[in-house]
Amino acid sequence: MAEANVLKNVDGAVATLTVNRPDKLNALNIPTRQAIIDHLDELEDDVNVRVVILTGAGEKAFVAGADISEFEGRSPVDQFNVMHGPNAFAATGNFSKPIIAAINGFCLGGGCELAMACDIRLAADTARMGQPEINLGLIPGGGGTQRLPRLVGLGKAYKLLYTGDLIKADEALRIGLVDEVVPADQLMARANELAGAIASKSPVALRLIKEAVRASLRTPLDEGLRHEITLFGLVFSSADKQEGVDAFLNKRPPNFVGK
Ligand code: COA
Repeated sequence: MAEANVLKNVDGAVATLTVNRPDKLNALNIPTRQAIIDHLDELEDDVNVRVVILTGAGEKAFVAGADISEFEGRSPVDQFNVMHGPNAFAATGNFSKPIIAAINGFCLGGGCELAMACDIRLAADTARMGQPEINLGLIPGGGGTQRLPRLVGLGKAYKLLYTGDLIKADEALRIGLVDEVVPADQLMARANELAGAIASKSPVALRLIKEAVRASLRTPLDEGLRHEITLFGLVFSSADKQEGVDAFLNKRPPNFVGK
């Protein structure tokens, strides 16, 4: 059942999605991709959920890539249809709320692409990351050639894409592929701490920050700067802005409601 391929747990304002095929190192088969899409669709509409954490089941893998067994016997037309159908990478990249990847082991190919489609990447010190498609005579198909160079720069992206080499968490941190590395046994605690801190902010402001930052990837600087000012005008009209300013002036903690 699709639901079993990705587990959802909601704790207050933080939802955790866990890719749940540990015996296959959480490889992304079609039902798993669909389950990610379905869960994100649901979470998009759930006003109580403000931040999402994406992780993998077990201690060995976040996601070890596309399910390679599905490639066997698939025609180019079948593959075209799969890749132009429901897209878990796009669903993750287009999700409007903050989404954090908690990388708990192998994070390869489509796994690395899924993590890169998230906003922030936390990695366990045991994580191994890379784009090994080249070893199969393939190229990335979930955004790897586009998001990797944006995160780490051209040379480091080419190196990972051309060689298919796996890198350790500390190297991923050094090149900017992940944003923080923590001991493996503290990964989920840290992810929840960070998610909780973000969830306490104004959902309106969070959404507009995400919109503005995402726009920066597709617009020239002057256009992006104008867009930011427009969004600032919008956020200025929110009840959360009123609450945040009032709380500051009255020396009390704010209570943001997302209005
Ligand atoms: N697709 C399908 N099955 C996968 C998989 C993938 N991407 N990655 C791992 N698995 C399966 C293995 O086939 C194995 O299944 P089995 O027990 O039924 O034989 C199980 O997960 C455990 O993997 P295994 O290879 O035995 O673990 P390992 O510790 O020896 O090696 C890896 C770990 C990650 C180095 C290795 O599994 C690997 O290279 N995976 C493919 C990574 C990849 O190329 N991803 C990009 C795909 S485009």
